[in-house]
Amino acid sequence: MSKCTANALTFILVFLAASMAAADNTITFGPYVQNVTDQRAVVCWATLEGESIASKLGWKKSVRAYNVHERIFVGLEPNTRYEYDVFGDGSPEGSGHFTTFPAKAEPFTFVAFGDTRSGHKEHAKLAAHILKDNPLFVINTGDLVSNGLEMNDWESFFRVSGDLMRNIPYYPVLGNHEKDSPYYFDFFSLPGNERYYSFLAGDCFFLMLDTEGPDYPTPEFVKKENREEFWAEQQNRDYMEQQKQWADKMLRLHRDAGYIFVCFHQPLISVKKSRAEDAKIRRAFWGGLFERRGVQVVLSGHDHHYHRAVSGGTHFVTTGGGGASLYDADAPQPETVKIAKARHYIRINVGEEQANLSVIDIDGSLIESFSVQKRSN
Ligand SMILES: [Fe+2]
Repeated sequence: MSKCTANALTFILVFLAASMAAADNTITFGPYVQNVTDQRAVVCWATLEGESIASKLGWKKSVRAYNVHERIFVGLEPNTRYEYDVFGDGSPEGSGHFTTFPAKAEPFTFVAFGDTRSGHKEHAKLAAHILKDNPLFVINTGDLVSNGLEMNDWESFFRVSGDLMRNIPYYPVLGNHEKDSPYYFDFFSLPGNERYYSFLAGDCFFLMLDTEGPDYPTPEFVKKENREEFWAEQQNRDYMEQQKQWADKMLRLHRDAGYIFVCFHQPLISVKKSRAEDAKIRRAFWGGLFERRGVQVVLSGHDHHYHRAVSGGTHFVTTGGGGASLYDADAPQPETVKIAKARHYIRINVGEEQANLSVIDIDGSLIESFSVQKRSN
């Protein structure tokens, strides 16, 4: 390991023997950075395993399969930039860098956006803006792809996101369009059970939740606007109740955090007319937990626009403008503060006294900015 001097210390990490077996294969996705803490990081990449063809009456479908490789770096220093080389041969194909998270309260920047789906051109443009901002990490609030069961969609996702994910850790949550796909769980290396999880960065606590559940029927649900059927299923209610108890416990455990951000796909407040009632059912289920526990910002997606509402001191933000076709915001709610039908991302600068959130549209213009104060505990 050698050390370079820069504003932040830079270390070079090289994997030799452990990854030489993979060096004969061509990387098809990645490498990309996952699951970073103040002491560890994971680097993944995928290689093509093979291609299968199914045919019927002249109709043919090919499906490619990939091996996902994962390397875990441990014993790292907090708030330090590392360069990695998964093949150890100096080739740019296997190289990248990441910065470990701060171990204590220190300023940093992260980005959130969502519903990238099949809007590849718009997604690529937003990814280029985000790359220039060089955030510590990126959150995707779900619906990364149009159909999580289609490998073609993941190939497109990684083609668009590749430059970003090579150097910046990527934290997604499950959207309905992921369809509970095994590909999602194969490609991402996330903490805990990966369906819902948490992580820390400095004195910020991030709670990443799942609004979808493990056994959601397909394919009808994609078009379904009213999810009463979801709540009618006992197994879904049990799953969500278990998750709520876990979330409450985690929020109590991290009550000393300076900032708390909660992320999940389907919002608790919707300004899309056909979804407003559905959101109310979801909001009733959570029962004011996030306001009660002093969460400053809840980040969601699903509705393809920007919306911010404030309730009980908590900002409920819908950031679903990551690429997919935009929706009208045709049902403003009493708590609504701002609506913008625009593709966008949110840049969050976490500071010593407050966090500043800037909502940036696809052309780089500011839609709005607002601040939340550090929790006083
Ligand atoms: Fe969605």
